[in-house]
Amino acid sequence: MKNVRLGIIGMGSMGSSHAKYISDGEVPGCMLSAVFDTDPSKLKKAMEILPQGTRIFNDYAQLLDSGSCDAVLVAAPHYFHPELAIKAFEKGLHVLCEKPAGVYTLQVEKMNEAAGKSGLVFSMMFNQRTNPIYIKARQMVRDGLLGELKRSVWIITDWYRPQSYYDAGTWRATWKGEGGGVLLNQDPHQLDLWQWICGMPESVDAFCYFGKYHDIEVEDDVTAFTQYANGATGVFITTTGEAPGTNRFEISGDNGKLVIEDGKMLFYRLDTPERKFNAEFRGGFGQPGHTVEEIKTDGENPQHKGITRNFINAILFGEPLIAPGTEGINSLTLSNAMLLSSWTGRRVNLPIDAHLYKRLLDERIASSTIVKNKSDAVLDTTGTY
Ligand SMILES: NC(=O)c1ccc[n+]([C@@H]2O[C@H](COP(=O)([O-])OP(=O)(O)OC[C@H]3O[C@@H](n4cnc5c(N)ncnc54)[C@H](O)[C@@H]3O)[C@@H](O)[C@H]2O)c1
Repeated sequence: MKNVRLGIIGMGSMGSSHAKYISDGEVPGCMLSAVFDTDPSKLKKAMEILPQGTRIFNDYAQLLDSGSCDAVLVAAPHYFHPELAIKAFEKGLHVLCEKPAGVYTLQVEKMNEAAGKSGLVFSMMFNQRTNPIYIKARQMVRDGLLGELKRSVWIITDWYRPQSYYDAGTWRATWKGEGGGVLLNQDPHQLDLWQWICGMPESVDAFCYFGKYHDIEVEDDVTAFTQYANGATGVFITTTGEAPGTNRFEISGDNGKLVIEDGKMLFYRLDTPERKFNAEFRGGFGQPGHTVEEIKTDGENPQHKGITRNFINAILFGEPLIAPGTEGINSLTLSNAMLLSSWTGRRVNLPIDAHLYKRLLDERIASSTIVKNKSDAVLDTTGTY
């Protein structure tokens, strides 16, 4: 295969943005061959911007059967990700799936199973995994530079969204349409990076507040506490209702701490590991000395383009995936666990009770009273994700 013919599924904000850079030739070896959306107005708009020859479908089965695609990029609302991906695998197409992998883990397990059975390339659009700072942080943790991990804290409160954002999308911020709030829409990136760098916890306790700052039924403010197999703990704090917000990720280990904030990473490196100092120091009030070093990273941060290029290179040349699709379930497990802990008022041990989660989600969908009318607000999609 010389070029991968790619179909984009869902031509909303994100689908159109993917279509743009691919059409502009920014993904070598990739040709945008088809698009599908359930909304005719989106297809009409797509026709105005897509390169000549791109096929436009209003029926997904027809796109899959048309022979015009080798792969699809799924950019529809989250609930549909697993079902659209599974159908593509069944027809022998590779899949690049937008985050989150889905809304509840039961459906994502099925997607992962279908991917495994197909043997096709399956990647998640975790575009923040291309950020050299997070790549470096992960490497430092894996190389043991921080020593045994003790704590990680991510305060991610700079996802501010005004009410007009929620009013602009009919599927957004409802249990039925989106299946969650800040944890499902904005945070999948940080939840993924958190587990990518620090691993998965064994348990989650969380406090989610629903519609605290907005007229929505889903969570817009969360504080979660996690515990890991080695005794380390973690805290994750997030909201879309605070300004100015913070994005600070701090990882502490026996050898010091890493702090990632404002696009910089500082390594507070202890002269003596804390456990050793603690065992040997006899002076009462001392503490290990440390130096502070800014860890410089080089390389660009190609974000969405980088993940799409990697997906295409995986199909064409077997390049290892930056974000294997089957890893999408990890961040979803974390967000499901946080909601489940809030709903039940209890600690949630991982893996979560996926059937209980689905039942409690269904109860919320059934008792939802939110009626959404599309407002005139226009979404600005120029922000970073
Ligand atoms: N990776 C990122 O940085 C990033 C950023 C924004 C959005 N996203 C993800 O992309 C997905 C879409 O978000 P968006 O902001 O583009 O939403 P959007 O509402 O702008 O677009 C969604 C599009 O999907 C279409 N659609 C609805 N149901 C469909 C179905 N069953 N099959 C095909 N198309 C369908 C809608 O008509 C709409 O055009 C979400 O899952 C979101 O989390 C990812």
